[in-house]
Amino acid sequence: MTPSPLAIAVLISGSGSNLQALLDSRGHGIDYVISLVVSDQSDATGLERARQAGVATEVVSWSKFGSRSEFTEALCETAEASGADAIILAGFMRILSPIAMDHFPDAIINVHPALLPAFPGAHAVEAAIGHGVTLTGVTVHFVDEQVDHGPIILQEAVAVRPDDDAESLHARIQSVEHRVLPEVVSAFSRGELTVQGRYVRWNLTPREATIE
Ligand code: GRF
Repeated sequence: MTPSPLAIAVLISGSGSNLQALLDSRGHGIDYVISLVVSDQSDATGLERARQAGVATEVVSWSKFGSRSEFTEALCETAEASGADAIILAGFMRILSPIAMDHFPDAIINVHPALLPAFPGAHAVEAAIGHGVTLTGVTVHFVDEQVDHGPIILQEAVAVRPDDDAESLHARIQSVEHRVLPEVVSAFSRGELTVQGRYVRWNLTPREATIE
């Protein structure tokens, strides 16, 4: 019997271009289904992308809850009710409480626009430019109790050009994100990723860092 594909809930706050990459990759040898798209912002453009693709959407507004843990509990219950096995944070701009890890242990994945542990937080691209680095990139990692900190699944470098501003650099970073995030989610879906402490083992050939 063929095992059923992994169901993911994708959490977004804005444009949802990574969500679009996840939507577009379905059916091209990619082994997941998107059970739900959740946003904390009712006007997030990504919600319309989900509707266009016929995927269910929910809005869970931060302002309706008295604490981070209540907000997180509602998000996790909403995801679980959709049948999700895992959560993908794709530009979700709220910090989850640690109770999310009880609901989805080693099953929450985030995409971050820098080579962690450099430049965590909400302004990673601007911070990289401001620091004068010549190399930054993309990190896809499992989420743990700390912000932008969990075990790293994949990193890919992006060179900073002398004439880059945050917008031009972010555009090149995002083109990498759109390629690697569906790959990682699909590998996770096939059971190819194992977390061992800080390390994530790929039970196929591990990818090596490359420079775009
Ligand atoms: C991405 O660059 C991601 O790394 C960061 O937020 C951005 C979201 O972009 N966490 P989008 O909403 O997927 O277009």
